[in-house]
Amino acid sequence: MLKPEIEDGQASLADPQFRADVLAGLARRPRAIPARWFYDHRGSQLFEEITALPEYYPTRTETALLQSLCPELRELTGEGRAVVEFGSGSSTKTPILLDCVHPSAYVPIDISGDFLRESARDLAQRFPDLLILPFEADFTRPLTLPRTIADAPKLGFFPGSTIGNLIPLAAIDLLRAMRASLGEGAMLLIGMDRIKDEDVLVPAYDDAQGVTAAFNLNLLARINRELDGTVPVDAFAHKAVWNDDRARVEMHLEARRDAAFEVDGRAFDIAAGETIHTENSHKYGPRDARILLRAGGWTPVREWTDADGKFAVILAEAQAERPAP
Ligand code: AVJ
Repeated sequence: MLKPEIEDGQASLADPQFRADVLAGLARRPRAIPARWFYDHRGSQLFEEITALPEYYPTRTETALLQSLCPELRELTGEGRAVVEFGSGSSTKTPILLDCVHPSAYVPIDISGDFLRESARDLAQRFPDLLILPFEADFTRPLTLPRTIADAPKLGFFPGSTIGNLIPLAAIDLLRAMRASLGEGAMLLIGMDRIKDEDVLVPAYDDAQGVTAAFNLNLLARINRELDGTVPVDAFAHKAVWNDDRARVEMHLEARRDAAFEVDGRAFDIAAGETIHTENSHKYGPRDARILLRAGGWTPVREWTDADGKFAVILAEAQAERPAP
């Protein structure tokens, strides 16, 4: 009789890229796993909880900014652009922008088709007359947008300081890819978290209730669930540190004791005190933000910040293909 080849349904469902990133990341020194793998179902839930924490100022600060900048933004972009959002769209921020600029179409781009369809469905309820064109793609590479919006002027939307997850080299590649995808005459509205006191930054990534710790540790639980792992989650502790030289908050998982475990049939050892680097969250001062945008092919047009200068929302326009000297 034929034996089923797949004995463990869980492991067989894992994203091959997740498996490859985890196996390579645990084998390398320093150990590091890309932050994008935080966001399984549980991780996305925990991130939603993070956005409501008293210590985590970015979401509420940016949301308030988006509400207050509307009249000026509409003046600068005009109405009727096609809004192209990089990432599947947040249920709170996206409607604020759509209400403001009255787009001719809304194109959320995300690599995860599930999240994409889910958020597109929600938005369709709220904006029944809006043309919504969900687009499943990896937006870190230049892409060809749907034909329907080929001739419309574009407004890119990249909120949340998600750009901060990338090291500057990758951030510039991404900005250039967005420039190429959106084309001549495009504008970009981007959120960037500012450099500030370490006493404010670190608690934002190491909250008193331990939600961020649970978010970080969930990566190990996800490895166990999806990659047939035996990682002793209780042997690891959440760590958030400010790296001043690189102007970023780093999250790590630190082994509190020596541990041995398997992932996908491969054996790993970690010594007490060793860490797995799981996230970077780069912060940008006003000039840092502007030079990053210019290096990525975008000219800053206008910048909004809250009264304390905690967070910035910047509007930029696509540089001409052949800029003057
Ligand atoms: C979603 C990448 C913007 O870096 O602030 C929050 C993710 N990690 N707390 C950030 C995050 C820990 C967040 N971004």
